[in-house]
Amino acid sequence: MSKFIIKGGKRLEGEVKISGSKNAALPIIAATILNSGKTTLYNVPNIKDVQTMYKILKEIGAKVVQKNNKVIIDTSKIHRYEIPEELMRKMRSSVILAGAIIGKYKKAKFTYPGGCEIGSRPIDLHLKGFEKLGISIKEEYGEIICEADKIVGTQINLDFPSVGATENIILASCLGDGITVITNAAKEPEIEDLCKFLNKMGAKIKGIGTDRIEINGVKALKDVSYNIMPDRIEAGTYLIAGAITGGNIRIVNANPNHIEPILNKLEEVNCKINIEKSTIELVAPKRVKSIDIKTMPYPGFPTDMQSVFATLLTTAKGTSIVTENIFESRYKYIQELNRMGAKIKVEGRNAIIKGTKKIQAANVIATDLRGGAAMVIEALVAKGITQIDNADYILRGYDNMEGKLRMLGAQIFLELD
Ligand code: UD1
Repeated sequence: MSKFIIKGGKRLEGEVKISGSKNAALPIIAATILNSGKTTLYNVPNIKDVQTMYKILKEIGAKVVQKNNKVIIDTSKIHRYEIPEELMRKMRSSVILAGAIIGKYKKAKFTYPGGCEIGSRPIDLHLKGFEKLGISIKEEYGEIICEADKIVGTQINLDFPSVGATENIILASCLGDGITVITNAAKEPEIEDLCKFLNKMGAKIKGIGTDRIEINGVKALKDVSYNIMPDRIEAGTYLIAGAITGGNIRIVNANPNHIEPILNKLEEVNCKINIEKSTIELVAPKRVKSIDIKTMPYPGFPTDMQSVFATLLTTAKGTSIVTENIFESRYKYIQELNRMGAKIKVEGRNAIIKGTKKIQAANVIATDLRGGAAMVIEALVAKGITQIDNADYILRGYDNMEGKLRMLGAQIFLELD
């Protein structure tokens, strides 16, 4: 297993460039299946989850040519409609392939997805949506088999604005007959990016960025090139790395609109934020102040930022309360932070954080992608040398994290296994 070795205590300064968004890239790569042709994508992050997505596409017959952050995907020779089980288990977002495969070929076979262990993460809303579109769903020996004569547009109201279910229904209905309307749809910017990409390919989607998305089925899509949006969670992570070290950093190639809830909270803890187009500068106080945070669907505070922001609050003056409203077990990282001297108590959905100045290095184990990132952030201010095992979790979602943090002056090394 790979590990991060971090020597804490450096005030971060300088500039870091934000990569393309993981959660936009994954469904967009899946969506290339809907076009039997060549798609060119730019600003694709170089991370493990994206590599897993390429592997699955190659397994089913696509040709993938990647160079740095550009990829050309040729989906004209896809000949398999099953998603290989071991790859499906590696990453939850592989479920998004189901919507694209069924949308294009009217059949798909897959197993329950894997991914970070942050809660039960069912896919009932995805499957209910598929059924409403006229797709029959059978479960046999843990496999889910989807088939349809045709996909017929309909009204789908989501019980909860699930990001993945919204995306899957959009993908399944782009090439369907008639109009599909999704109400109570998720509004995350990554869904907006997926819809913009699909429309560029020739899809007819209206209501982009709202909770009512209307998809008018079209016969076929066409070859396009597309630039993936910046990663808002990566942007937030580096801003917080700056904040916890009392630093002064600039992030470039970001979208300030997408991270407004994070910027608001950073101002609330007394950081100064200056925005100029796609550059955001953060000037941190010596010690941040305590605040409360509640995670909510977009435009609320993102659950993916919960662990990293909570880490900042472990060093704050006073006591903070963080409430996780999206996933039920997203606090596994806390016992590792507590081993480093953080004072966090979990009570149901709440984490009560008593700020302290005494964070100590320790040997810790990344519990999931964002929980692992939290440990990296904590290690930046810990006294001594922290070793974070299971770093592969972090590499799933952060492009060149050690290189970027080193550019800001951190002492961090990655040991690959
Ligand atoms: C996506 C993101 C993830 C982020 C999450 C919430 C990707 C690849 N991942 O995950 O990083 O943390 O959005 O912003 O884009 N639910 C159900 N039934 C379903 C689907 C979801 O009950 O069929 C529940 C989940 O258990 C969870 C909540 O809905 O409690 C939100 O999940 P969802 O929005 O679907 O998240 P993901 O798409 O899995």
